[in-house]
Amino acid sequence: MISENIEISLNSQLKLEANASMQYLAMASWAEINGYNGVASFFYNQSEEEKTHMLKLIKFVNERGGTAVIPSLEKPESEYESLQDLFTAFLNSEENVTNSVNQIVFECLEAKDYTVHNFMQWYVAEQTEEEAIARTILDKLRIIGSDKGGLYLFDRDIKNLDVKNSDS
Ligand code: FEO
Repeated sequence: MISENIEISLNSQLKLEANASMQYLAMASWAEINGYNGVASFFYNQSEEEKTHMLKLIKFVNERGGTAVIPSLEKPESEYESLQDLFTAFLNSEENVTNSVNQIVFECLEAKDYTVHNFMQWYVAEQTEEEAIARTILDKLRIIGSDKGGLYLFDRDIKNLDVKNSDS
């Protein structure tokens, strides 16, 4: 059985994952409209991943005797100035999720709830990976700058990162 406080925190985390899923869908759509099909595919996959993160939390909360609260949708940001802007927003979103994961891990230790603590380790590892991907991509974009040929190749090559993502 999970405590009321942990249940609230896990529900707030599943809302964050749901919002991230919608946010990445909006990013995928922006990329598609702007001719970056590789980037669009990357974000469609990211959106699906976030949905699985949300589902994992819903099932866990319910299995542990709590009640998962299915959140209402928030309208995500859908305007971006550039790929740099898009991926900076991606990194910010992931950092925000990481902070929330870390906060829950802290709460678990305080409450000596080692079951939830153990469950959350999957999210800790996942966040490390997602932040690393976002930073690697931003480094590449910094080198490319506004070079159109470079952006074209970037869009083509991000599909390789895609494969790695969908396997994880
Ligand atoms: Fe599930 Fe990328 O946060």
